[in-house]
Amino acid sequence: MFTLPQKESGAPTTCLDPASTQGLGSNYGDGLGRDCARKPDQKLPKLYGVGDPIATFSSDSSHLSSRGRIIKWFWDSAEEGYRTYHMDEYDEDKNPNGIINLGTSENKLCFDLLCRRLSQNDMLQVEPSLLQYPDWRGHLFLREEVARFLSFYCKSPAPLNPENVVVLNGCASLFSALATVLCEVGEAFLIPAPYYGAITQHVYLYGNIRLVCVYLDSEVTDLDSHPFQLTVEKLEMALQGANSEGVKVKGLILINPQNPLGDIYSPEELQEYLEFAKRHELHVMVDEVYMLSVFEEFVGYRSVLSLERLPDPQRTHVMWAASKDFGMSGLRFGTLYTENRDVATAVASLCRYHGLSGLVQYQMAQLLRDHDWISQVYLPENHARLKAAHTYVSGELRDLGIPFLSRGAGFFIWVDLRKYLPEATFEEEMLLWRRFLDNKVLLSFGKAFECKEPGWFRLVFSDKAHRLHLGMQRVRRVLEGKSQMAEVPPSCQTQESRGQHS
Ligand SMILES: Cc1ncc(COP(=O)(O)O)c(C=O)c1O
Repeated sequence: MFTLPQKESGAPTTCLDPASTQGLGSNYGDGLGRDCARKPDQKLPKLYGVGDPIATFSSDSSHLSSRGRIIKWFWDSAEEGYRTYHMDEYDEDKNPNGIINLGTSENKLCFDLLCRRLSQNDMLQVEPSLLQYPDWRGHLFLREEVARFLSFYCKSPAPLNPENVVVLNGCASLFSALATVLCEVGEAFLIPAPYYGAITQHVYLYGNIRLVCVYLDSEVTDLDSHPFQLTVEKLEMALQGANSEGVKVKGLILINPQNPLGDIYSPEELQEYLEFAKRHELHVMVDEVYMLSVFEEFVGYRSVLSLERLPDPQRTHVMWAASKDFGMSGLRFGTLYTENRDVATAVASLCRYHGLSGLVQYQMAQLLRDHDWISQVYLPENHARLKAAHTYVSGELRDLGIPFLSRGAGFFIWVDLRKYLPEATFEEEMLLWRRFLDNKVLLSFGKAFECKEPGWFRLVFSDKAHRLHLGMQRVRRVLEGKSQMAEVPPSCQTQESRGQHS
């Protein structure tokens, strides 16, 4: 497991097990504190800063800087499954034996509704201001709509202020921008794990910011009420562990609803996590990108913006995007809401590189202002379709006797396939993942989310019935041992690569 040296690159120095330091292929933000959530009586692992980036990456293109090589390495190692999928994508007519993608978190259920709405006459407007340099925070007409939209759908106690809104091209950019403006090189954010793994690169590639995992367990102890539960004690322990290793923690990332667990934090839990952050003067980035994708009515989701009182408003930054809730991950729209004007201004300054076209800003404003369509047409239908797809996939899993976690939010089910691993190792997890891929179904494996227990997979269900049925048939075939065991080249047996984990 390699660790990027801190001195030269400001890259993560991690608390890793020396036995696992084997080489490039097996890393990728691995752990950044694998053992940080340890018990107080356990010995702290050593702090590592291994190697020289120039040497580590010298086999790569000589045209790149050392930073460029690291950035390219992330690309090369990151999304093997996704690239394989794109070379052999399933198509009912043209490629019926192609790969079914149950790995990428996209909602493919409502294209018809979106297409109809986005094709209406009110969507196209061409005027000089839309073709000229904008206010980098976003046009005022859009920020006003975003503020109204968030006030209404997040149920904020008072109307939100458009001056606290910045718009840009997606949540990934927002992570990158916030990390860069909030932290010095080499500083860190706490993040409960498993988590949407791409955040590792979002905060690292430009900002050189590290993540300290707060590892959560599937096992329910006396202090927990459900598997993978986040508690303040676990946050405190991870923070202490990082501090004791000289890692400066600047913030906490909360994803609510959570990806990949589908968990929802209660208002009381949210309040506790925010109080914890305040006590330690940590910024909190709250990613609410799935806030309108809560499809079970009994789940009482509450946005952080709905809280009567934020413990530390100047350090609380809320993120939302159209990628998930509006099934438009290709449109690239994201927004920040923060009362901290310096943070908003600094992020806006980076919007020169992450801004939105004026025409898209216009379209988004039109969409967000149409509460009638959103509340009466889109959301009820979207939720009904998500629920039906979820019911089908969870039924299949039950039929197969497979345990899983899913709490009525998001597009995915967190599936426990540990019993299918001959040994509880990430190598075996990878082999199982490959067997799925060889049988033309793409899933995401737990290691991509920094899950510390091998054998968990994320299965995305927000797709059309015919693809889901075929995908689940293929999953079943593999799990029932009816698949052809593909020859696994020796090089693949130890090398780690990653599944798609958007
Ligand atoms: C929790 C979470 N945040 C952010 C993103 C990225 O969002 P965007 O497509 O807006 O960059 C994803 C994508 O999967 C996600 O799951």
